[in-house]
Amino acid sequence: MNSWKNIRDDFPILNQEANGHPLVYLDNAATTQKPRAVIDALSRFYERDNANVHRGLHTLSMRATAGYEGARARVAAFVNAAAPEEIVFTRGTTESINLVAASWGGANLKPGDVILLTEMEHHSNLVPWQLVAKRTGATLRFVPVNGDEGLLDLPSLDRLLTPEVKVFAFTHVSNTLGTINPAAALCARARNAGVVTVVDAAQSIGHMPVDVRAMDCDFLAFSGHKMAGVTGIGALYGRRALLDAMPPWQGGGGMIAHVDFLESRWKPAPERFEAGTPNFGDAVALGAACDYLDGLGRAEIQRHGAALGRRAYEVLSGIPGIRLLGPRGERAALVSFSFADVHAHDVVTFADQDGIALRGGHHCNQPLMKKLGLTGTTRASFFVYNTEKEIEVLAASLRRTVKFFRG
Ligand code: ALA
Repeated sequence: MNSWKNIRDDFPILNQEANGHPLVYLDNAATTQKPRAVIDALSRFYERDNANVHRGLHTLSMRATAGYEGARARVAAFVNAAAPEEIVFTRGTTESINLVAASWGGANLKPGDVILLTEMEHHSNLVPWQLVAKRTGATLRFVPVNGDEGLLDLPSLDRLLTPEVKVFAFTHVSNTLGTINPAAALCARARNAGVVTVVDAAQSIGHMPVDVRAMDCDFLAFSGHKMAGVTGIGALYGRRALLDAMPPWQGGGGMIAHVDFLESRWKPAPERFEAGTPNFGDAVALGAACDYLDGLGRAEIQRHGAALGRRAYEVLSGIPGIRLLGPRGERAALVSFSFADVHAHDVVTFADQDGIALRGGHHCNQPLMKKLGLTGTTRASFFVYNTEKEIEVLAASLRRTVKFFRG
C-alpha cells in the first residue's frame, strides 16, 4: 500500500496479540518487520523466477540474473553509489565488515599501523578489527564516548588521527545509545589525514537518507533485515578503485576469470567478493524493501523516528529511578535505559506479559557497558509503524514493573 495513513496494514505480523494484548513491537534495532510488498517479492521470485544466476543460458536463469543484478542496481541507487559495481552482496553488516577487515586490512595493514574505532562500536565493528590486528601487527585505538550522554569526544580526533592511523571504522548510529554520529564530518576529517573510512550503517540504513557520495566514505556496511528486508542479505558499498585493488577473501565459483591447477585470476569487483551461489532470492526482496522505504520517503521516515525517539526519552524520563542513556537532544529512533534495582531481563519479561517486545542485555556492546558501569540496558527501538500511543503503553507497563519490584 505504501502510504503513511494505513501503514500498519502493510505489515501482516503486527495484526496479532501477544499474551492477550495487542502486539507492541519495539525491537526494531534487532530486526524490523517486513511489509507485504517484500514478502510478496520473495514468494514471487520462488514461484516464478528461481534458477541459479550468471551461469545459465536458459530463460529462468536469465530472469533470475536480471532480478539479482537489478537488485544490485536498486541498492546502489538507494545509497547513491556511483555504479552497481560498488555494491557487494553479503549476508549482512557483520559479513561486510569482516570482508573489509580481512581483505583490505590484510593487504594494507602492517606492524605499527593503527586501526581507529570508537568506544560505541557494536562487536561486529570491533572483533573483525581485533582479528586483523592480530594477523598484521596493527594496533587498535578508540575515540572516547563522553559518558551517559553517549556523544563522541570529537575534539580528541585531532590527537588520535596520527600518521600511523590507516583506517577509521565507526558506526553511523549507535544501537545502544541512539547517538547519530556526524558521519560526513568524520569522513572528511579522516580523508584530510589520508585515512580510509568504514561506516557501519546497520542502524541508520532503514531510518534516514544514507548517501555514500554526500558522506564521502570509502566503505559502508548494512543489513537488509534492519530495513524491512529479509534476513541473510546485506551489502558492502566500496569505492570502486579500492574494491578492485583488494584481494578476494573467499575462493570458489563465480569470482574467477580463469582457473588453472596451480593458480587463478580473479574477476573485478563485485564478483570477486561473491564466491559460490549468491543469495539472489533475498537480494530481490532487498530491492523491494528499497522501493517500499523510498515510497514512504526517507526524510519522512527520519522525521517520524526522531519524533518517537525524542518522545520516548521525554515520557520515560518521568519514571522514578530510570537511568536514560544517549543524547538528550537529537537522537535516533530508540531509547535505552536501566534501573539500579530491576534487572533488564526482568523488565523485558514483564513487558512481554503486556504484549510489548523489548530487548535487554549488553546489545553486543560489552566494552561500552563496562565503561558506563552497566551489565546491560533495556532498549525500545522504533520503526515506521510505531506510534506515540505505543510509547504510552510502554511507559505504563514500565511503571507497573518498577512498582512490583519496589513493593
Ligand atoms: N545488532 C542487533 C541489535 O543491536 C542485533 O539488537
